[in-house]
Amino acid sequence: MSAGAAKAEGPLVLGIETSCDETAAAVVCGWRRILSNVVVSQEIHADWGGVVPELASREHLRLTLPAVRRAMSKACVGWQDLDGIAVTRGPGLVGALLVGLSVAKALAMGRGMPLVGVNHLEGHLFSLLLEDPKWKPPYLVLIASGGHTELHMVQDLGSYSLLGATVDDAAGEAFDKVGVLLGLDYPAGVLLDELADEGEENGPRFPVARVARPGHNFSFSGLKTAVLLHWQAIPESERPRQRPAVAASFRRAAVDALVKGVAAALEETGAPRFGVTGGVANNRLLRRKLTALAEERGIEVAFPSPRLCTDNAAMIAAAGAYHLASGCRDDLDLDADPSLRIQSETIHMKEEEPPGGRA
Ligand code: KG4
Ligand code: ZN
Repeated sequence: MSAGAAKAEGPLVLGIETSCDETAAAVVCGWRRILSNVVVSQEIHADWGGVVPELASREHLRLTLPAVRRAMSKACVGWQDLDGIAVTRGPGLVGALLVGLSVAKALAMGRGMPLVGVNHLEGHLFSLLLEDPKWKPPYLVLIASGGHTELHMVQDLGSYSLLGATVDDAAGEAFDKVGVLLGLDYPAGVLLDELADEGEENGPRFPVARVARPGHNFSFSGLKTAVLLHWQAIPESERPRQRPAVAASFRRAAVDALVKGVAAALEETGAPRFGVTGGVANNRLLRRKLTALAEERGIEVAFPSPRLCTDNAAMIAAAGAYHLASGCRDDLDLDADPSLRIQSETIHMKEEEPPGGRA
């Protein structure tokens, strides 16, 4: 497809994402069509058992411009074809965010094009729109990643309400920490998922946290401690044999907490469809249980493909395209906000129909 043909569907936007340990750049047309989606996962953190902020910033410095060049060339677009640049301004690691912001600002200034800052979490909400042309608001979204566990209702594009969030660890963080405890390499979520498949049904029972209202909140730190205490009580010689059962029991408790939260939020909102995104959305048991929940309620469920569930710039470009189409622009004094919340996105709500039609 030529850049000209793509533009008929909405603004053509370069997205840049550097909020954590993925350096990503993508070109998206409107908030429905991906022309390129380049993600470089920083492997340097594996040796440290977690993301090291200073190393993440340095890696972003090294990797962002090459990622942008690759995204532009894979999309077969030139700078003159773009309508703007969207960049993650938060939440995330401040040093990492500042690298993406600096690159985006320099490109916007150098090429004389509009710039818009995007909330990373809002990007995750937009990831649902990028693969299924029929998917539309209202929809509920569970974002479950290494840094966030939140439930949002998308009433319309640009209009969201936060229904619940973790009060301590993120779900992915709990998977990573328990995985490392069981001797798996970081990031351990996917490896723990595989190990749990080998575990028995009748392993130890770990608690599924109940968090007081208001909201559909989650908690994973008690579960993590319960696994730690159980593991420490197992004689070392016994541990290799017990690993799959412990992994399976932890996964069941963590997944049950997420499913309970989604079920309660669906009940309360009556949402006709819901989606799951963030790295934990790849969890096999979570997918099975949420698919069953959707069938039971007779509603639609979407699991974006793994490249859109994990951090990527296509979702940032998509949210940015929406805001640019709504007339939003940011100045070069746009700053990073490491603890940006999603409510503030309502400031970008549209005042009139964006060009290219509503999703
Ligand atoms: O969204 P994401 O790529 O990055 C951020 O956290 O920003 O999510 C990564 C997280 C990690 O904690 C990883 O262990 C977890 O998602 N994860 C999984 C699975 N695949 C990735 N957790 C459970 N089961 C999986 N299959
Ligand atoms: Zn994320």
